[in-house]
Parts: sequence; C-alpha cells; structure tokens
Amino acid sequence: MSTEPVLDLKADILRLKKERNAIILAHNYQIGPIQDLADYVGDSLGLAYQAQETDADVIVFCGVHFMAETAKILNPTKTVVLPDKDAGCSLEQACPADQLAAYLKQHEDKNYYVIAYINCSAGVKALCDVICTSGNAPHIVNQAPADRPILFVPDENLGQWVMEQTGRKMDLWKGNCYVHVEFTQDSIQKIKDDYPDAAVVAHPECTKAVRLLADEVCSTEKMVHYCRNTPAQNIIVVTESGMLHRIQKEVPEKNLIPGPTDHCACADCRYMKMNTLEKLHACLERLSPQVELPENIRAQAEISLTRMLEQSK
Ligand code: 13P
Ligand code: SF4
Repeated sequence: MSTEPVLDLKADILRLKKERNAIILAHNYQIGPIQDLADYVGDSLGLAYQAQETDADVIVFCGVHFMAETAKILNPTKTVVLPDKDAGCSLEQACPADQLAAYLKQHEDKNYYVIAYINCSAGVKALCDVICTSGNAPHIVNQAPADRPILFVPDENLGQWVMEQTGRKMDLWKGNCYVHVEFTQDSIQKIKDDYPDAAVVAHPECTKAVRLLADEVCSTEKMVHYCRNTPAQNIIVVTESGMLHRIQKEVPEKNLIPGPTDHCACADCRYMKMNTLEKLHACLERLSPQVELPENIRAQAEISLTRMLEQSK
C-alpha cells in the first residue's frame, strides 16, 4: 500500500499562488472548482482590465489561449501561464492572421477600419485598428470613423447583432463560435414552451434566429446583472454551461435553466473545459506552459487592445 500523502490540490494551489506572487484569473465558463479558487472571475472585458491592473508577478489564466495571450500583450514583463496551451477557440481558428493580411491587401482600395472581436490571435490583433468584446462591441463600433468602411472579424453572428444595435453597416468575416451556433430556434422554443414564464438571456454569438427568442442579449458578465435584476424567477441561460455556476453563486434565489441544443440539455465548450484543477496546479508549480510572443506582434497588438480599453471606459 502506498504511503504517499494525498495532495490537497486546492490548498496546494493556494500555497503555490502565494509563493509565486501569482493571481488566478478565470473566465465565467471555467469549471466550478476553478472559479471558486480564482481571484477574479469574469468576461473577456473584465479579465482584460484585471490583467492590465494587476501587480502580481505571475498571471495564471484559466480560460482559453487568446485570453492568456491578451494578458501577455498587456504585460510583456510578467510571466503568463495557462493550464492547457491547447485550449483554443473556433473563432480564433476561423481567422488566421495570414488570411486576414491577404484579404486586407487584396482590398487595399477600401481603406477598411478593422475591428476585431477579442476572440482572435495576437497576429490578428496586430493587424486591426481596435478590439472589442461582447461587453462593449456596440460602444466601440459607434466610435469608429464615420468616413471609413468597417471590416468586422471574426464572428459574423456578433457582427450581425452589432449592426442591429448600432445601425452601422459592416463587412463581416465568416466565422462563428461552434458552441453558440449549436443552439437552434427549435431547441430554444421547446424549452420556452416548457417554462412559459421564463425570461431568456442569450449571448450575442448565437444566431439571429435564437437571439430573436431572447429577452436580453449580452456578454457573460452582464448576464449576472440581468439575472439579478429581472423579476422573472425562471431564467433560460443560452450560453456555455459554466456560466450557470457563476450566476447561481451570485443569484442563488433564481432558478436557472441551461439553454439546450438539439442533442444535449446544455452546451459545453470543449476548449474551456480542457482546464482542470490538476493542470492548474501543475502550471503553477512548473510555471509552464507560458505564453510567449514575438515582440513586434505583441507591441502592435497592444495598440489596438489599449485603444479598446481607453474607448471602453
Ligand atoms: P464574454 O466576453 O461575453 O465572456 O464571451 C467570451 C466567449 O468566449 C463567449 O463564447
Ligand atoms: Fe471560443 Fe466559443 Fe469556446 Fe467562447 S465558447 S471560447 S467563442 S469556442
């Protein structure tokens, strides 16, 4: 029989965090045990501000790769680690930097003002004029120069929603979130029929057919506020399943119903769910994997990112 002491993972993560002078940032889609250990849990916008403001030496980013990369863009001298470097994003994959560069070259005559949703690589951030998140996209688009056409990358559904919100026409890159497009008009209508008095809150990465069934369309952080403030007792939450943990913790009195897809009772992002407590512990212990970026790309990406943070205040 092994005499090895059993490691208390949570306690050891907190010990290592202190030893390394680290901060743990977690996205709202992380598994409950990671959210519960984090110093801050939020949406992409809140996480970017936290990354900009921290004075910790090490940032442990529990989310997906582009989010950790964002933290590194804003903090070139800090160590940024993430539990699993393969935690990608279908939106990031839909818009490789070389394809965007080729497109912009081919359409040089248009003099596009390029707005990139934060769900993209540092290479794409370096090519665009300003970044936005789901929490500030209409606000950022409203500040774009009126005399230039806008190219919005890489989420066509978010882009469509922003056009509806702002009345500004934009050319849209054809990318989408593989999780949010799994919700269908049918799957959401069925759950609405089961809970006729329920409010529906949906993420703007959903298709228009699904958004039209929602009472509120907003970023993950704004969903927490919506659920707290709506008089509805039952709320159908049309986004990734991790969101329910965050809302339930902050608004325990409400009954949350996960938005179903045609195949499942809820939707998981396989990338967000790659992170586990074991991997979080290992990355803090080894300070690896780390995010590294070529300085020319990082510095260029910082310009569009900082512009967003300033325009968003
Ligand atoms: P939020 O910024 O609204 O949290 O969205 C991030 C994301 O990846 C949604 O799929
Ligand atoms: Fe990307 Fe969609 Fe996962 Fe968000 S839920 S990280 S947009 S694949």
